[in-house]
This record gives sequence, structure tokens and C-alpha cells, in this order.
Amino acid sequence: MELQGKRIIVTGSARGMGAAILRAYVRAGARVVAMDVTDATGVAEAAQVHAMGPGTAEYMHVDVSDRQSVETAFAAAAARLGGLDVLAHPAAIQRSSDAGSVTVEDWDLMFAVNVRGTMLTNQVAHRYMKASGGGSIINFGSISGQRAEPSAAAYSAAKGAVHAWTRTAAGTWGADNIRVNAILPAMATPMYREAMARATEAERTASFWRNRSSIAMGQEYGDPDRDLAPVMVFLASDGARFITGQLIPVDGGQTNVR
Ligand SMILES: NC(=O)c1ccc[n+]([C@@H]2O[C@H](COP(=O)([O-])OP(=O)(O)OC[C@H]3O[C@@H](n4cnc5c(N)ncnc54)[C@H](O)[C@@H]3O)[C@@H](O)[C@H]2O)c1
Repeated sequence: MELQGKRIIVTGSARGMGAAILRAYVRAGARVVAMDVTDATGVAEAAQVHAMGPGTAEYMHVDVSDRQSVETAFAAAAARLGGLDVLAHPAAIQRSSDAGSVTVEDWDLMFAVNVRGTMLTNQVAHRYMKASGGGSIINFGSISGQRAEPSAAAYSAAKGAVHAWTRTAAGTWGADNIRVNAILPAMATPMYREAMARATEAERTASFWRNRSSIAMGQEYGDPDRDLAPVMVFLASDGARFITGQLIPVDGGQTNVR
């Protein structure tokens, strides 16, 4: 019950890491509003988690790339929860693209969801957290934002922007007792499995040497419930009150054991 009484928004809650974070927060006693664009699975996931308790979960629709949608959803969530203490923000999209041929459409889509979505959710969360006396914002970056990423030019540029934004927001909002960090995960989720399914055999082999071979903990992507959720509970808790502005790999060593 480490998060008993905490008022939390989790974006991207319909699947993958967002769903695992939702489960962990409710298990730790928090009151959570879960948000996604995919409403059918979002509703079902939140209802299932709510039934398990001991915390609570309910679902609200959001498109994180749209200011009005974020304003509306976050206002409804903060009203429902009576304030806001934590934002966990894994919602994002991933597409392949090549530096030489990436289109303006791909580039803008990646920046709209992954970068503008981070700015908007953080900015609106900051407003409610400031009124609540402080809080913790947990963004999602990527190893793709830390190194050359030949297969995902726009995605990696967008994740690099998330890293820079996280540092700036942390530097600006520390004065309001609000911490801002970013997780750099390597987890077996639908996003990862879909990318692997789209890849050719040659691309899968290249991906092993590029991405999995340096995962010291078994050369496999992690399990979000087992490997990510406990870290997310800690970063949401008061025990992490002096950690801010950090890019935190939860990746079995992938980023730094290359
Ligand atoms: N899977 C990995 O190993 C990995 C590696 C590095 C970084 N990441 C990052 O971790 C985060 C979580 O990834 P995941 O693997 O769980 O992804 P996922 O694709 O499994 O889940 C992402 C969720 O975000 C939602 N979403 C997408 N666009 C949205 C929008 N506009 N508004 C609201 N919700 C939206 C989707 O509907 C989905 O439920 C992402 O930010 C991703 O870029 C993942």
C-alpha cells in the first residue's frame, strides 16, 4: 500500500507498459484515472484492475497530441480525484523511417504524439500538481534518443526531444516541488512485438545484435509487470522525492552495457 491515497493519471493505459503501470499503482493502493485513445480496451483494462483493488481505477478518453482533449480529460480526472499527485506518461507511437527518406507527414506525426503529447500532458499536470503542493511526472524516453537509430529517424529524434524537455521541465518545476524524470525502457510489449512482426528476417537479426545482445540480464526484453512496475511505484512514491531531471534506463543494461 505504498501509494495509498495518491491521485494518479496513467496515459497509454490500454496495453503494454501503461496497463502494467495501472495494475501496479492500483495494487499499491492508489486512486488512478487511466487514459488512452483506444477506448474499448482502455475501458476493459481499467474495469478489470478496479475489480482487483485495493485502490481504484476508472477510464477516460484522451488524445495526448490534442490540447483540448488533454485539458478536458485532465480537468475531469483532477475533479474526480480531488487533485493530482502523479502523472505516468508512457502513451506514444513508434514508426520506422530512414534519415534519407523520412516524410514530413511521418516526422510531424511522431512529434505530435510523442513530443507535443509530452509537453501538453506535463504542462496541464503541472498546473494541478502545483495546486496540490507538488508531484511526480514520469515520462518515457528511449535508448533511441541516446544513439544513432538508422531504422527510426523520426522516432529517435522525437525521443531525444522528450529527454531534453524532461530536463527543462525538471529544472523549471522543482521550485513547485514537482519532479520530472524519464524512463528509458526495454520491455516486451505490443509495440515491441509489432515492430518485430513487421521486420524482415535480416532486420530481426540486425535487431538482435543492435538491441538484445547488450541486454546483460538474459538478452531478452523485460516483462513490464515484473521489471518496470516496481520502479514506477518507487518513482511515484515519496521515497523518490530527491530524484528529478533523470533519464533512467530500465533495460537490463542495454543502454550502458554496449
Ligand atoms: N517497448 C519498448 O521496449 C520501448 C523501448 C523504448 C521506449 N519505449 C517507450 O515506452 C512507452 C511505452 O511503450 P509500449 O511498448 O508500452 O507501447 P504500446 O504501443 O504497447 O502502448 C502505447 C499505448 O499508448 C496509446 N496511445 C498512442 N497514441 C496515443 C494518443 N495520441 N493519446 C493517448 N494514448 C495514445 C496506445 O493506444 C497504447 O495503448 C512509449 O513511450 C515508448 O515509446 C518502449
